[in-house]
Amino acid sequence: MTKTKIAVIGGSGIYDIDGLENAEWTAVDTPWGAPSDQILTGVLNGVDMAFLPRHGRGHIHSPTTVPYRANIDVLKRIGVTDVISVSACGSFREQMAPGDFVIVDQFIDRTFAREKSFFGTGCVAHVSVAHPTCPRLSAACLAAAIDAGITVHDGGTYLAMEGPQFSTLAESKMYRESWGADVIGMTNMPEAKLAREAELCYASVAMITDYDSWHPDHGEVDVTQIIQTLMGNADKGRDMVKRLPDLLGATREDCPHGCDKALEYAILTGPD
Ligand code: ADE
Repeated sequence: MTKTKIAVIGGSGIYDIDGLENAEWTAVDTPWGAPSDQILTGVLNGVDMAFLPRHGRGHIHSPTTVPYRANIDVLKRIGVTDVISVSACGSFREQMAPGDFVIVDQFIDRTFAREKSFFGTGCVAHVSVAHPTCPRLSAACLAAAIDAGITVHDGGTYLAMEGPQFSTLAESKMYRESWGADVIGMTNMPEAKLAREAELCYASVAMITDYDSWHPDHGEVDVTQIIQTLMGNADKGRDMVKRLPDLLGATREDCPHGCDKALEYAILTGPD
């Protein structure tokens, strides 16, 4: 049995966790540089928690400049076992409406200007990301969202784009019609890949703020529209997070899906 430590990486609109006991913001450095911000740690319903604002308090990092490696490294370093990503996204599906949440289970990674691995020269490793999210952790997020009365969709493919501009109409239609993506966002990659390399269980809760630009009745997406929906979504997101400690418990078994052993057969470089 291991002590559970749940980390929430909060996206736009979520900058802390409600009701945390012994709450403390601490600066932690990493070999990959500084994380997006200090880490908030504390205890919620008897379970150790950590919180990291992905864009930093004050929203100072764009999706491209978020220090993804430092963020995942710092969570590993402080003993986190379970990482829950909360982020805003656009929807490619009529039935996935603004205000709804999606428990993402697949990604199409179209980002290109970010460091995507902890491995490279000196130590080469290829982890599997065929199933990039942890089903056990995703199920807990689904249950927490249902308990909180949120309209939530179980499973969906997230197109991770570089940004910072939104998609063109042609791209939006292609992602939806030809590529089969359900939602679009700018931040879940390479975060999910790095969590797997760090052998951390990872679940992604995507909060829908808009219909991107494909929807004939909704026009094009803009930041004002996103922020408006985000206000309501952020309260729901915080309500969902509050329910996670009871669902996950203060201790946990090894991950039944092997997320915590992802490197066992992944490293090619031999020992010295
Ligand atoms: N985040 C929220 N809405 C988005 C969209 N339509 N495209 C990319 N990222 C988003």
